[in-house]
Amino acid sequence: MTENSSSLLGDLKILWHLAARRVRGGTHAERLENFYSGQADNYDSFRKRMLHGRREMIDRVPVSEGDVWIDLGAGTGENAEHLGERIGSLGQMYLVDLAPSLLNVASQRIEARGWDNVTTACADATTFRPPEGTADVVTFSYSLTMIPDWFRAIENALALLKPGGRIGVVDFYVARKYPAEGHRKHGWSTRTVWPAWFGSDNVFLSPDHVPFLESHFETEVLEENRGKVPYLPLVRAPYYFFVGRKPSGT
Ligand SMILES: C[S@@+](CC[C@H](N)C(=O)[O-])C[C@H]1O[C@@H](n2cnc3c(N)ncnc32)[C@H](O)[C@@H]1O
Repeated sequence: MTENSSSLLGDLKILWHLAARRVRGGTHAERLENFYSGQADNYDSFRKRMLHGRREMIDRVPVSEGDVWIDLGAGTGENAEHLGERIGSLGQMYLVDLAPSLLNVASQRIEARGWDNVTTACADATTFRPPEGTADVVTFSYSLTMIPDWFRAIENALALLKPGGRIGVVDFYVARKYPAEGHRKHGWSTRTVWPAWFGSDNVFLSPDHVPFLESHFETEVLEENRGKVPYLPLVRAPYYFFVGRKPSGT
């Protein structure tokens, strides 16, 4: 498996890609691979300190023996690690992504761990179908903000899931200016600065993920938090995690 420990040189490489390097490519898939190909080896150690709530979201998704779990926008497959021993009870897990360089790291991880029920698939999250046709669990961790048609990706998850199946999502976001009752409010600076900053890396923070998820699934868990950003001690990025159930009869 790829060297995963944090190093200053590795971090500098990632920071250069995030802050300075221009993303090139004529299609979404080309832009993703162009963005990630120089970062794949150092991806996990940096994102561990930035992509908060992944383990917490995975922990809250129930699994049963033989379940099919599809992780859409899986990157290097770190979420499979967060499943811990529960991974052995799955019938099949699919790690789906459009960036081959990240999927290479995922394949090395699968081989190193000896997971014979985990497979990578280079495919689009908005259209992917597993050979089984349906799934018990679909997850997105920090991928919806990088999928331009994120609503189509959620609709695809809805179509893939069996009635009663679970969706789990964790991502950066901003609140609506006037959020529904019981939801976190963000001030003007949060709602303005974060989308502008992340948008330069083609990460599009949205106030609409949570309302869209809540209108399509029965909410089981919704947490709205803030998390640290490497090298910026005073800064906390807003993120949410959501676990929902596909209603029976849909
Ligand atoms: C920030 S990374 C998160 C990766 C991983 N889920 C994690 O938590 O570390 C976003 C991922 O979404 C993938 N992605 C973006 N658009 C996609 C699409 N339309 N279909 C599949 N994967 C996509 C990117 O290639 C990238 O690996």
